[in-house]
Amino acid sequence: MEDDLPEIDGRRIDLGIQADLPEGAEPRVHDARADLPDRELDRSLRPPTLEDFVNQEQVTGQLSVFIEAARRRGEPLDHVLLAGPPGLGKTSLANIVAAEMGVPLVQTAGPALEKKGDVAAFLTSLEPGSVFFIDEIHRLGRAIEETLYPAMEDGELPVVLGQGAGARTVTLPLPPFTLIGATTRSGLLTTPLRDRFGVTHRLEYYSPEHLTEIVVRSASILEVEIDRDGALEIARRSRGTPRVANRLLKRVRDFAEVEGSGHVDGGVAIAALEMLEVDSAGLDRSDRALLEVIADRFGGGPVGLSTLSVAIGEETDTIEDVLEPYLLQLGMMKRTPRGRVLTRSAWEHLGRPVPTGHESLF
Ligand SMILES: Nc1ncnc2c1ncn2[C@@H]1O[C@H](COP(=O)(O)OP(=O)(O)OP(=O)(O)O)[C@@H](O)[C@H]1O
Ligand SMILES: [Mg+2]
Repeated sequence: MEDDLPEIDGRRIDLGIQADLPEGAEPRVHDARADLPDRELDRSLRPPTLEDFVNQEQVTGQLSVFIEAARRRGEPLDHVLLAGPPGLGKTSLANIVAAEMGVPLVQTAGPALEKKGDVAAFLTSLEPGSVFFIDEIHRLGRAIEETLYPAMEDGELPVVLGQGAGARTVTLPLPPFTLIGATTRSGLLTTPLRDRFGVTHRLEYYSPEHLTEIVVRSASILEVEIDRDGALEIARRSRGTPRVANRLLKRVRDFAEVEGSGHVDGGVAIAALEMLEVDSAGLDRSDRALLEVIADRFGGGPVGLSTLSVAIGEETDTIEDVLEPYLLQLGMMKRTPRGRVLTRSAWEHLGRPVPTGHESLF
């Protein structure tokens, strides 16, 4: 145990960090290199390399240049912030970056870092060059965030030793590392934190063509027989989201195996998706419930987020992170200073006439 303690001025000192660690907060070390070699063994659908990562060429193009440059200099990559709605590939990208840099990835999430000691325990135990991945980084407490500033900027961690009048601050040098932060809500990040990332990328919703590629790739890993029409039908109804595409593929496969020969073509995909209540715009039951409540109970809006949350029984976070971004992207909904408003295409999608006088809100 003594040997694990950091050394300062030639003495091993106990920073009290261990005592601060909540139970089960052991840093989880995951060596991303282990995922690379054998795709046959690892049936995971997660793309293992930048090359397998479909779409988002702007992001992958830039990242591959930065990775190559950092590798040539023998330095860790600059800190990277990945923003965008759930399921678009932020965690996958963080793993890919670690794999391409040939370094381990240590993963945690904003809400899991409760005390400064938690952060210190992670940072001081990193293998040099590691990727330290913080998911949901917008949910870090302010004090924790401030601990990260000197760590990100100067590679050091100020630690207070002792208590009261005898307390003094020592600065602990950290192993070089790359912080990758992922967030579904970059708007909630403070400016000082955001400014400390050298590279910031926003992942966008995927086009049906790109999602088709993902479905075809996943189908081959899962050994599902699918033709182009079947893949395209799933892709079109996947809310622009690879995770949804993979999930729908699995459900469609179940349907094809039970109801048919196991082969997925356009017709099988449509029948399966209809059974799953995923409509032609890719909206599922929760999306439609949101639109219907705004239409039926609030005359198309404007209606505030918290009122909506109560009305449909979903957390405000779920509405803002998951449901709303896609409806906004489709142009079915608008955010106004007075609340959420349905647009013409939402009324059309619901098959209802636009109420008189409502056009002024579009
Ligand atoms: N560009 C891509 N190419 C191929 N598959 C992808 C791509 N992006 C995501 N996926 C697939 O979608 C799944 C979800 O991606 P991932 O977990 O990386 O999303 P995320 O952005 O981290 O989501 P969350 O915000 O919910 O954590 C992955 O397991 C992977 O199979
Ligand atoms: Mg993730």
